Amino acid sequence: MWKPSQRIKHKIERGVSPDVEKAKNSRWFSPINIGSIELQQRTWVPAMVPWRASEDGFVTKDVIDWYRRFALGKPGVIVVEATGIRDMPSGPLLRIGDDRFIPGLKKLTAAVNEASEGQTRLLIQLIDFLSIRRRPPAEKFFSRHLTITAAHRETLAAQDWSEERIREHLSNIADDDLDDILSERELESLRMGARERVTDMQFEHIQKLPEVLPDLFADAALRAKQSGFDGVELHYAHAYTMASFLSARNDRNDGYGGTRENRVRLPLEVFQRVRERVGDDYTVGCRYLSEECIDGGSELEDALYFGTEFARVGMDFLSLSRGGKFDDAKQPQVGAAAYPYTGPSGYECMPAVISDELGPFGRNIEPCAQIRTSIRAAGFQTPIVAIGGVHEFHQAEAILEKGQADIVGSARQSLADPDWFNKIKSGLGDEVNLCKFTNYCEGLDQKHKQVTCQLWDRKDITDETPLTIDGKRRLIAPLWNHHAGIES
Ligand SMILES: Cc1cc2nc3c(=O)[nH]c(=O)nc-3n(C[C@H](O)[C@H](O)[C@H](O)COP(=O)(O)O)c2cc1C
Repeated sequence: MWKPSQRIKHKIERGVSPDVEKAKNSRWFSPINIGSIELQQRTWVPAMVPWRASEDGFVTKDVIDWYRRFALGKPGVIVVEATGIRDMPSGPLLRIGDDRFIPGLKKLTAAVNEASEGQTRLLIQLIDFLSIRRRPPAEKFFSRHLTITAAHRETLAAQDWSEERIREHLSNIADDDLDDILSERELESLRMGARERVTDMQFEHIQKLPEVLPDLFADAALRAKQSGFDGVELHYAHAYTMASFLSARNDRNDGYGGTRENRVRLPLEVFQRVRERVGDDYTVGCRYLSEECIDGGSELEDALYFGTEFARVGMDFLSLSRGGKFDDAKQPQVGAAAYPYTGPSGYECMPAVISDELGPFGRNIEPCAQIRTSIRAAGFQTPIVAIGGVHEFHQAEAILEKGQADIVGSARQSLADPDWFNKIKSGLGDEVNLCKFTNYCEGLDQKHKQVTCQLWDRKDITDETPLTIDGKRRLIAPLWNHHAGIES
């Protein structure tokens, strides 16, 4: 992952734990409605891909165990990881693009319901993404992937060379010298791996995205409803298709790019189709970016506008993230694909403990507060979910008290200690295992390895402990014995 030049080691404070009475009367542990469902608390575990689905996208026992473990901590909401809406192979990422996925998803919703004793509401994040290829070996790129064009012939003064000779010649040129011969996109395909964009209007399937996506999302949302999820979160954030429509870099010329009004058009159309399909009484919200944190990307002003439009059409909640783009991702190794959390924008999404002066805790809170203020000023009460670096009761409570958000979520801290909400609520906040914010989990995610946490993945391993494929790490956090206050 990219690191800021300032190397300040920030303190991870536990804070003074509230007693049971104080926790009970706190804002964080008070109820709120999102759409037609009531959350018993304003705690929220956002989407995290744990790489536990089967190769063809089905729910596995490991997926169920993973979410059951979070459910034992009884947060207000768990959002199930980014789940693909197309019926298309995409490796061990969870999928919902066909009815055959429903039985597995039903088991998942039942398991969470049982483990949380009905106290946790379960949402699922619906995602669409475009194709991204692994970075090819240079020989393969020149011999197979690159289309030889008139521009190459002209630059090389090789009008009468055979294509084979040009390919051979290019593969012998030093990488730096290729800058003057290949186009920007060709260089990207060589150095990063080819990546489709929503602006690639030369491809029919990209042109047709506005035609196909509303139904794909709507069908997926209906399957979520049929599977027993309490609602859906449309993934309009980070590096994926819908965020790319919202992006200030989207210059499509078909009415879905350019101005803010045009860029928000498809996200609104998708929402409206989803709403028609699942009905008014089903909870539908989205996750989107307060800022893209890339050159030429959308800024807070854009997010203020989008937020108001999302509220106007009746989204039931808005969860805010930041950054996480492909545009500034690190160059992957040959054979690996670029990953959107490896550049400066990725750092904004998941900042680590060694950071710049802004630090890793709450970088997204002020933008989130401004979005909430602007939505309220427009007359809408849509609940806003703030996420980013939250690991402590008073931090969450202060966000709610100041009116910066209505719900406060936490990804990495919840992974570090899935019982942390329950511990705090029981007056046992001193027992919370605090996340170290080193991004160990994210490093595993990047390599598409089963995600675990360094705080617990080597702890108390017995013959019965379910382990990762390499046999070294436990798959879920040890259980917390509430009454004895111990973990086993
Ligand atoms: C292992 C891992 C997987 C993630 N997967 C997703 C995902 O599927 N969808 C998403 O919107 N965000 C994803 N995120 C981002 C988190 O939801 C969250 O926004 C980010 O970690 C910052 O919150 P935190 O500081 O509370 O961890 C992931 C984060 C981690 C650590």
